Amino acid sequence: MPKYAFFKGSIVPNEDAKISIMTHGFNYGTGCFEGIRAYWNPSEEQLYIFKLHEHYERFLDSSRILLMNLPFTAQRLAEITVELVRKEGYREDTYIRPVAYKADEVIGVRLHNLRDEIAIFAVPFGRYIDTEEAHAGVSSWRRIDDNSVPARAKITGAYINSAFAKTEAMRNGYDEAIVLTQDGHVSEGSAENIFIVRDGVLITPPITDNILEGITRTVMMELARKELGLQVMERPIDRTELYVADEALLCGTGVQVVAITQVDHRPVGTGTIGPIVKALRDLYFDVVRGRVRKYLGWCTPVYADRPEAMPVS
Ligand SMILES: Cc1ncc(COP(=O)(O)O)c(C=O)c1O
Repeated sequence: MPKYAFFKGSIVPNEDAKISIMTHGFNYGTGCFEGIRAYWNPSEEQLYIFKLHEHYERFLDSSRILLMNLPFTAQRLAEITVELVRKEGYREDTYIRPVAYKADEVIGVRLHNLRDEIAIFAVPFGRYIDTEEAHAGVSSWRRIDDNSVPARAKITGAYINSAFAKTEAMRNGYDEAIVLTQDGHVSEGSAENIFIVRDGVLITPPITDNILEGITRTVMMELARKELGLQVMERPIDRTELYVADEALLCGTGVQVVAITQVDHRPVGTGTIGPIVKALRDLYFDVVRGRVRKYLGWCTPVYADRPEAMPVS
């Protein structure tokens, strides 16, 4: 359990950060959140928060879609987060969860005329999927649509869609679900973006296929192009392309980078992690821990002020 939380505008003991059972966000899922990771670098005795600023930019975008008007900039939220994590004193990999929610204690489904609050907490966190070579199954649940519940916003209530897909997948013996759009194209995992490799090209669904616009997804594309010299394509993916892909991966803050080695009980490529996924995964783990100088600007240090590494607002 964390010792502290940011709650109602200040950092308080975690046990004082409580909401009512009448809270609007609790009853109707009218909130949005982020998942941010911080990585412990033992040789530098430093905790690096990965892509902190980008997460808060997306958080504010989600909040705007929910008609929230939060009185914080991304820069200020980043500063509060560094302060909170520093106060916890963690010296291990950590997960940071900011959540904004409709805070009024009233009955009535709506977005307007409601007070908004932000809470942030941070907890030690290891792996999200307990394998490095995941078996995935195409879900019978379809992805939520932009014109019903926008997947682009990280809306708390929308995660019931992910929960249905994840539980079905696990009960069917898979590690993870692959969810299709209403028109049958590959969208993403239950809480991860997906990439496939075909003939040396890295392919991922476009942001118009009801995906969360993943920060790790952008990182994958940049590392693939700049460091591996790969061609990257954002285009719709058919279900059966999963069956003929040479390699595939899931990526996201939680899952990090995990190879998909089976889809619907069929091997992907050789059925083990392939060279491109392995290269991307290894590079990612070096980058997030602050071990690649060129990408140090993506990592915000918690324990020392190193102004050149702080993202600019
Ligand atoms: C539905 C969904 N897709 C994709 C992602 C990956 O996004 P990111 O890389 O920004 O963590 C997440 C995780 O946050 C998610 O919940």
